Amino acid sequence: MARFLNKVAIVTGAGGGIGRAASVRLASEGAAVVAVDIDEESISKTVSLIQATGALGHGVLADVTKSEQVENYVQETIDTFDGVDVLVNNAGIEGQIAMLEDCDEKMFDKVLQINVKGVWLGMRHVVDAMRLRGGGSIVNTASAAGVMATPTMVAYGASKHAVIGMTKTGAVELGPAGIRVNAVCPGVINTRMMRSIEEMTFPEDPEEFIKATIPNIPLGRYGEPEEIAGLIAFLASDEAAYVTGASYLIDGAISKT
Ligand SMILES: NC(=O)c1ccc[n+]([C@@H]2O[C@H](COP(=O)([O-])OP(=O)(O)OC[C@H]3O[C@@H](n4cnc5c(N)ncnc54)[C@H](O)[C@@H]3O)[C@@H](O)[C@H]2O)c1
Repeated sequence: MARFLNKVAIVTGAGGGIGRAASVRLASEGAAVVAVDIDEESISKTVSLIQATGALGHGVLADVTKSEQVENYVQETIDTFDGVDVLVNNAGIEGQIAMLEDCDEKMFDKVLQINVKGVWLGMRHVVDAMRLRGGGSIVNTASAAGVMATPTMVAYGASKHAVIGMTKTGAVELGPAGIRVNAVCPGVINTRMMRSIEEMTFPEDPEEFIKATIPNIPLGRYGEPEEIAGLIAFLASDEAAYVTGASYLIDGAISKT
């Protein structure tokens, strides 16, 4: 498949599990990919993997919560590859594990800054560039936590509900410009983020988390980042030309248990 020949994609959180898999998937289908992350080393690794597919890759160090840095990653994409067709708004953090009355206020703010404001800023600053191309596709990474209760993760759950809300608003406002906005809602996916949640929940024995969680996943396993990347690529592509404002669960049905 080469659904992204002559297309330019930006992926945020591209140094992490899902962002890296999405970057490589889009690149393997022909996109020139700009990998954005706050972690320089992980960007370099992702850019090498993008280039290993034969596609063009470029890295930009940016904090998605800082407006000028978001503007800069969009501008650097235009300067490097002449435009933007796809934004995968994926950077996010898990925050802490605590009952809502014990949730640290600074951590609550940080989770909302990155997971909500970062997604809004990405959409805000990419719109003009997509209008110049006559349209585009934005895929926001929400979560199954955006459609269900998240006991011990109040800020994270709130942030992902917000991403789904912004996705709907974006679809309505930007539809007339030919810009589609959708969200993916992964369940429990095998990345650094889950390692962190496992360790915070059961510091003595993180394996306990896996033992307690697997029975609640009808498919009986964690998902893999490459599986999320496949859905992101579909939504970003012209195959999904009539899909906008949608939030797709990809969670092995954990949200139904
Ligand atoms: N892993 C899961 O189970 C799971 C489930 C549902 C949703 N998600 C969502 O998927 C997205 C990717 O998560 P992941 O599992 O790949 O985790 P990850 O920790 O591997 O990747 C997240 C990436 O975001 C980057 N990042 C964090 N703050 C940033 C900032 N301010 N500016 C720029 N980059 C920043 C990190 O450096 C990291 O590379 C997140 O939005 C997460 O909430 C993950």
